[in-house]
Amino acid sequence: MAHVKFFGGESVPLEMHKVRIVQKLNLPPIERRLEAMTEAGNNTFLLRNEDVFMDMLTDSGVNAMSDQQLAAMMIADDSYAGSATYTRLENKLKEIFHMPYFLPAHQGRACENILGQVMVTEGSVVPMNYHFTTTKAHIVLNGGIVEELVADDGLEVTSDLPFKGDMDIGKLRDCIARYGADKVAFVRMEAGTNLIGGQPISVANLEEIRTVCDEHGLMLVLDASLLADNLYFNKVREESCKNQSIREISKRIADLCDVLYFSARKLGCARGGGMCIRSEELYNKMRGLIPLYEGFLTYGGMSVREMEALTVGLDETMDVDVISQGPLFIEYMVSELVKLGVPVITPAGGLGCHINAMEFVDHIPQTQYPAGALASALYLVSGARGMERGTISEQREPDGSETLANMELVRLAMPRRVFTLSQVKYVIDRVEWLYANRHLIGGLEFTEEPEILRFFYGRLAPISDWQQKLVAQFRKDFGDSL
Ligand code: F0G
Repeated sequence: MAHVKFFGGESVPLEMHKVRIVQKLNLPPIERRLEAMTEAGNNTFLLRNEDVFMDMLTDSGVNAMSDQQLAAMMIADDSYAGSATYTRLENKLKEIFHMPYFLPAHQGRACENILGQVMVTEGSVVPMNYHFTTTKAHIVLNGGIVEELVADDGLEVTSDLPFKGDMDIGKLRDCIARYGADKVAFVRMEAGTNLIGGQPISVANLEEIRTVCDEHGLMLVLDASLLADNLYFNKVREESCKNQSIREISKRIADLCDVLYFSARKLGCARGGGMCIRSEELYNKMRGLIPLYEGFLTYGGMSVREMEALTVGLDETMDVDVISQGPLFIEYMVSELVKLGVPVITPAGGLGCHINAMEFVDHIPQTQYPAGALASALYLVSGARGMERGTISEQREPDGSETLANMELVRLAMPRRVFTLSQVKYVIDRVEWLYANRHLIGGLEFTEEPEILRFFYGRLAPISDWQQKLVAQFRKDFGDSL
């Protein structure tokens, strides 16, 4: 792995690539940002990108592509059936994960739909380290129950545990005993556990889970959407992986699983998804749904150009210098914010920097959505758009009551190779200012609340005139600066 020391002793991530295509950015003045946030119903998903300076909403489908990926897109074979592009993708997945069967899908949640329809039955349970929003929705839609069994210390916001995404094996055994193994649809592990701050899972934990699954004849399904970051952490944090290549670690992980599905918007830095499957019987059951929901078996809803980019992107994921860039930039941002006393999730994980809104704005009750309010305030003062990952991202209970999230986070995603260090420094600066003025931030309330996945397009309003006060303070401190 590339390791470059600075003479001055400074610890900064060094880009191991050069930028050859650029996109001009726009940073509107704070007054316009307030209008834009109001128009967007205080939901960062509803902002228009022309009003956004740094788009840190997600890393999904927005990672920078490589020259090799773009070049590969030009040779795509667009035959409806049996395209050479598909064969190249299938072969690459077999080369990396050594699983016998592959099914393509248009993105990660499409895999979840198919898995849910085939494997989840009414009243069945899916034990998992932690849910992801779309995963949970598909399991519940098919009558299943989600049991989150992440180890208790995984939910501690600040920690130095290397693998906070690991499952508590005792809780898994209890869960199976409580429901009975015949009620368990499958066990799901999520690499780079998204909603608890992009925290990785260890190979050792997967090995233990495999043993429990074998004892009870259960399938182990890995959500590998965030596997790239996870592999980097296995390599640098897990003793048994230190002398292994990323390819060897990938094979070890895949060998422990029965199904490995992914969003190619994350894994492979393209747009699409797919499932690698070990059992022929399961493959045959799932296969029928692909032409029904996705497209023919050799494209599954993906554009052939994206499939070519994905094939190259997966290969590049095996290069530790490529996959280290995200985690190293995130680690830089997290450690700078820690120095400034800003509450963030530690240790730094993958995906992005996660601000702990529960502490940042501890005067806002969870029923007034602290993470949503902080995401709105941060956009106002910086033009950077993050994502609420807290109570707004939960669904109400059937009786209408709120499910208060375990964590109230604002995720500032760091799409791989997209931002420069000075841009990251700018966001750190604005977060620092906002932290000093945090008492000005107030709560939000819904004005429009959709029933399903409300965080995507629900609209909220500030409970008081706190946003005007924040804008006034910004002008006072920054003068005419953008
Ligand atoms: N699983 C995980 C762990 C994810 O992070 C995502 C998407 C999905 C499944 C669904 O994949 O978007 O291709 O349908 N996460 C995005 C995010 C939306 O912003 O974190 P998809």
